[in-house]
Amino acid sequence: MSKDHRPHSSSGDPASGLSRRNLLSAAGWSAAAAVGAPSALAQSASAPPLRTAVAPVYFPREGLVPELSIGGKVAVITGASRGLGLATGLRLMAEGVTVIGTSRVPGNYPGHPFPLLPLDISVKASVDAFVGALAAQLGGRSIDILVNNAGRYVIGTPVPIAPALAGLFESQTQLAMETLYVGHVRVTNRLLPLMTQSAYSRLLFTVSGAGYFVGGTALSEANGLSFFSAYYSGKRALLAYANNLRGFLRTSGSPIQVSTVDPLVMNTALPVGLNPIYLEPVGGSGNSTNPFLQAVLEAFRAAHAVGLSPDFVAETYAQLLRMQDPLPNVLTGSRIEPYATQCASALVERGYLDENAQSALPIGAAGAPVAGSV
Ligand SMILES: NC(=O)c1ccc[n+]([C@@H]2O[C@H](COP(=O)([O-])OP(=O)(O)OC[C@H]3O[C@@H](n4cnc5c(N)ncnc54)[C@H](OP(=O)(O)O)[C@@H]3O)[C@@H](O)[C@H]2O)c1
Repeated sequence: MSKDHRPHSSSGDPASGLSRRNLLSAAGWSAAAAVGAPSALAQSASAPPLRTAVAPVYFPREGLVPELSIGGKVAVITGASRGLGLATGLRLMAEGVTVIGTSRVPGNYPGHPFPLLPLDISVKASVDAFVGALAAQLGGRSIDILVNNAGRYVIGTPVPIAPALAGLFESQTQLAMETLYVGHVRVTNRLLPLMTQSAYSRLLFTVSGAGYFVGGTALSEANGLSFFSAYYSGKRALLAYANNLRGFLRTSGSPIQVSTVDPLVMNTALPVGLNPIYLEPVGGSGNSTNPFLQAVLEAFRAAHAVGLSPDFVAETYAQLLRMQDPLPNVLTGSRIEPYATQCASALVERGYLDENAQSALPIGAAGAPVAGSV
């Protein structure tokens, strides 16, 4: 990690006037951004003028001096068979942490660098069995660090594409909310009593930049982001849960400190094959005969293929965990090239501003006229 990832001042983005009609050619905001296509680094011509700049809390930070050692701590990381969970486990092991990970099917990962216990967070019985297996694995030790990281993309339009597919849509949406939100609440509730209650104790969540950029804007329409409606909804719910839990634990006198890590576009298998939860039928390789969906899939897969290394998230966790007072919420990304393009930071920031412009509680320059106020 040799580059400076500290926040820098905001800069504007060019406008190009993308519309829903050219969704297919522009599909995939992050893909286009990742390959540097200027037309997608765009705000719709109809979007309201921006009065606000964003100052993202990007991590990891250059030169951040660790305040604490975490050597000898015990960490549990859900969804650690690959991707961000695996990278984080390896990074914490390098700090001398004992890491226990999870997978729905640990047998698929022979020779894994740390133990993987079976866990499907969307299935209550699996969580029950996991708690027992984990207690046995811990052998009387408590959990010092819990990283709720497991997750899947959820991809499809916000409504069923045909009445006959309404049942599939509903059951997949249910699975999505179990995977992105309810499952994490379930795991957290069951593991809180196993966590260290009297000293260093950390509870973290891999949420997403999507928790802050929820679409519903002209920019989203132009770039196919409404295909991620359920993912955004689940991540937003998880973000709210984590932030409420932080305050509740603090006011309860618990030493457990809560943070969220919110990555932008990372190079993992998140959008690959059947890893995502699809809200409409796809083939065995996760490809669709629906040209709109297929275009979005290809664009997002291309974007992730050149996204940031999972090591950025791992380093973010390593930094937060060695801070005396960890920040509550941080983005993993950067405005500095080539990282800005790789993690599509310009479009994420643009989307956030667009959302603010139509918010019921917009943040703007002090003294500026506020549309619709009474
Ligand atoms: N990649 C990105 O750009 C990005 C950006 C923002 C946020 N995130 C979030 O980061 C987290 C990790 O994703 P990733 O990018 O590393 O993707 P990934 O490579 O697909 O890894 C996902 C992990 O979650 C596990 N998992 C999936 N469903 C599960 C379930 N129902 N119960 C328990 N474990 C489950 C998987 O394990 P098994 O398949 O072995 O069960 C795997 O270890 C997710 O929460 C994702 O939403 C990723």
